[in-house]
Amino acid sequence: MKRLDGPIFITGHTGFKGSWLSLLLNHLEIEHFGYSLEAEEDSLYERANLERVSRGVVGDIRDLENLSKVIKDVRPSVIIHLAAQPLVLKSYQEPLETFQTNCIGTANVLETAFDTPSVEIVLVITTDKVYRNDNSGRRFVESDPLEGKDPYSASKVAAEAVCAAWQQMSKISGGPKVLVARAGNVIGGGDFAKDRLVPDVLRAVSSGQSLSVRNPKASRPWQHALDPLIGYLKYIEFAKNSMKIEPALNFGPFELSLRTDEVLEFAKAYFGDKLKLTYPKESQEFESQALGLDPSSAIAKLAWQPIWNQKEAIDRTFLWWMNYLDNPNNALNNCLEDISISLEVMR
Ligand SMILES: NC(=O)c1ccc[n+]([C@@H]2O[C@H](COP(=O)([O-])OP(=O)(O)OC[C@H]3O[C@@H](n4cnc5c(N)ncnc54)[C@H](O)[C@@H]3O)[C@@H](O)[C@H]2O)c1
Repeated sequence: MKRLDGPIFITGHTGFKGSWLSLLLNHLEIEHFGYSLEAEEDSLYERANLERVSRGVVGDIRDLENLSKVIKDVRPSVIIHLAAQPLVLKSYQEPLETFQTNCIGTANVLETAFDTPSVEIVLVITTDKVYRNDNSGRRFVESDPLEGKDPYSASKVAAEAVCAAWQQMSKISGGPKVLVARAGNVIGGGDFAKDRLVPDVLRAVSSGQSLSVRNPKASRPWQHALDPLIGYLKYIEFAKNSMKIEPALNFGPFELSLRTDEVLEFAKAYFGDKLKLTYPKESQEFESQALGLDPSSAIAKLAWQPIWNQKEAIDRTFLWWMNYLDNPNNALNNCLEDISISLEVMR
């Protein structure tokens, strides 16, 4: 991968993907600077002690004045906007906050970017959940209609509408290129967020309590965090060197999405009887049943492809956690090993 000019400004650098992105950029020797809320106690950022290796400040993307001051001070050439309230179940409890962060926060980032002459590209990270989903299991392509049913998905559709408006302003009056990346369910060492399947497995194994499986037949496009992150950098590189931009690209696995019960079979093979599962009789329809992403366009245009298939990504994630549980001081090294392997494969 060729080098990108920094500095790259990352919103959400204390989050799961932001932590992996900071480490990836460090490895590639690309200068970067982060802006996020405080890291969560159980986060990868804390476990790997990333404060030592990544520069950044605590700040809220809803605070336009502060966000703008920090971005203008850093004078980045690229902004990768990851910061969000990313949890579907939490979005039902806090819909307004979810919209304020995911929609108005995105508008604040774009407004500031357009007012900061150093910024050439803003990449906004949305999700596979933005597509109108009839649960047929068909893999979505970028031109499919968008519609979010739950508050999280709807807030990300709103963020996409914000991006479309600034893409139009960029076309008419000039300004940074605005790109949108839609990724699937990312996994990898260190994610401990609530109500996500792999962290839930880890929580159950380490506490000895059984995991209540919400939706065993639901399918998702699983991928290792490094896969879309490398894709994002290639997307930015492509946009920098091209007159015509691709306004949105999907980043997902090659294969059809795996069901929850298939992921749990792999987990069982790893953790054996330590993983106890229960299946509540009543399942509530909080989340969609089938989700799939077609990554063909990113593969064709960016010379990018997923490094690990879904099974391999799950294996690498559990291996990371086994090493970590053996020795919690291994968190950073485990990440660096995964980064080296993935970049070796990309060469
Ligand atoms: N993890 C997934 O499976 C997945 C899948 C598709 C898309 N995404 C998207 O990728 C992005 C990153 O997700 P993640 O899994 O790393 O989430 P995360 O919860 O681990 O991290 C979220 C980050 O955003 C920051 N943040 C939240 N609210 C903020 C605010 N008001 N101001 C400033 N910072 C704020 C947090 O401090 C944290 O650094 C999100 O936009 C999410 O919607 C994630």
